[in-house]
Amino acid sequence: MFRELNDPLQITLNGQIFKRLISAAEIEEKVAAMAAQIRADMGNAEVPVLLCILNGAFVFAADLVRYYEGLCELQFLRLSSYCGTDSTGKVTIYPGLDAEKFRGRRVVIVEDIVDTGLSMNRLLRELRQYEPRTIDVAALFTKPARLCHDVKVSYSCFEIPDAFIVGYGLDYDGLYRNLPAIYVKE
Ligand code: IMP
Repeated sequence: MFRELNDPLQITLNGQIFKRLISAAEIEEKVAAMAAQIRADMGNAEVPVLLCILNGAFVFAADLVRYYEGLCELQFLRLSSYCGTDSTGKVTIYPGLDAEKFRGRRVVIVEDIVDTGLSMNRLLRELRQYEPRTIDVAALFTKPARLCHDVKVSYSCFEIPDAFIVGYGLDYDGLYRNLPAIYVKE
């Protein structure tokens, strides 16, 4: 998009080998297609609110909005459930949701991964209280084998197997978010 990205097939991080699962070019292509699909579904009259879920979705959301060829608003919200490579089973939604930003609006939640669906399920329950007109989930990744909560994902770039991935905003204990491609630990 803006420069030649360096995304080798394999990298060593902290003495561990990570293999490339998805290249930067593949991600770019899927994100652009998703932006076009959301834009087509929203139509000309609609100004959707894209709700970026921090921290993991910050890179995805930044690219998605730049491919979105229409008016949209961007809001941010921080959720936390993971520690290392495991879910803690407890979802924390950090304050900052402005109810008036969502009432009667079409909201698209921009999330990095719907894994077990716990976080999304919790967020959807919270968001519905603000009476948006529609809520869609746009996830960069879904892990269908792990899904165990009732969550409908309207837009998804990649379905991936049950593995822990890093890069393109996704971290392992705060690290590796800056990798331009997606890597999986060997
Ligand atoms: P869920 O609540 O089980 O669906 O987990 C969702 C959150 O867990 C995501 O938004 C990520 O922040 C994190 N997560 C799940 N799987 C991975 C992974 O493979 N790599 C990095 N973070 C992950």
